Amino acid sequence: MMTDKENEMATEKLVSVQVNGETCKATVPACRTLLEMLRELGHAEVKCGCEKGDCGACAVLFDGKVVDSCLTLAWHADGHSVTTAQGLGGPDNPHPLQTAFIEHGSAQCGYCTPGMIMAAKALLDDIPDPSLEDIKRGLSGNLCRCTGYTRIFSAIHAAAQALQQQGTAP
Ligand code: FES
Ligand code: FES
Repeated sequence: MMTDKENEMATEKLVSVQVNGETCKATVPACRTLLEMLRELGHAEVKCGCEKGDCGACAVLFDGKVVDSCLTLAWHADGHSVTTAQGLGGPDNPHPLQTAFIEHGSAQCGYCTPGMIMAAKALLDDIPDPSLEDIKRGLSGNLCRCTGYTRIFSAIHAAAQALQQQGTAP
């Protein structure tokens, strides 16, 4: 009879995922979530909250669509493309959403912020000029326990306007 460790190794597989444009490979068991894999690869910007699809802290883009990485198996990501908040921009080249979150004071502890920004990115990709109701719906899978939502919604509205003024795709 195999031990738990032997069982795990028997179901391991090498997966290759494009993370923020870079090929990342890891040998992972069938039970490993994309969230766990990304954090093991050093992507600490992908936050671990509830691990059951309630909070959105772990949200990433998966082939351009927002998903909760805690509900996505690493095996399922094999051969796919993942974008995290780090892939959108950083201190030297922030995405307009990141700039707007700073300018509007849309983060206190900041734990929810990467997931919020990824959900907002997916929203603006679909609806470049969203109404407040669109923004509320687009962010309905993301919880913030400290900022409240008004400043977050304002930042997304401002980022949408900035992107439209730039004439760039979000
Ligand atoms: S950690 Fe994934 S939804 Fe909460
Ligand atoms: S800023 Fe703290 S949870 Fe949202």
